[in-house]
Amino acid sequence: MMRTARYLAAAAATLATGFAVAQQPAPPAFAASNLSPAGVRALAANCAACHGTHGKPAPGSTLAGLAGKPKDELLTAMTQFKQGKKPATVMHQLAKGYSDEELAALADHFSKQAR
Ligand code: HEC
Repeated sequence: MMRTARYLAAAAATLATGFAVAQQPAPPAFAASNLSPAGVRALAANCAACHGTHGKPAPGSTLAGLAGKPKDELLTAMTQFKQGKKPATVMHQLAKGYSDEELAALADHFSKQAR
């Protein structure tokens, strides 16, 4: 009987801790989009590490170039990554970090870069 009571007390304490964790404040919301020309260039710079400066991959890179691809094609791919509808190793996570408006601005930006 005592053992059961101790067990129940421990279980209650664990539950209480769980509730305390669940009640942590929500993470801060995203900053407002900056879709000015400079703001979009700054967003696009986040892609350069993998897709190359201005969306042109380094020679020999196996990653897809983004420069000069049709806007619709780029936006469809990024939207499908974001929605988990297109298999990916990293893009499904990265795409979730951008609002739909930001993805549209990025697609527009890269479609206008020289191949
Ligand atoms: C850490 C490396 C990395 C970064 C940063 C990155 N990508 Fe990607 N991207 C990939 C990889 C790898 C793929 C292939 C799909 C996969 O495995 O995730 C890909 C695929 C894509 C595709 C599909 C291309 C095609 O023709 O199939 C698009 C569009 C794209 N990325 C856009 C972007 C944009 C826009 C950004 C910046 C916001 C970005 N990526 C940042 C690694 C990256």
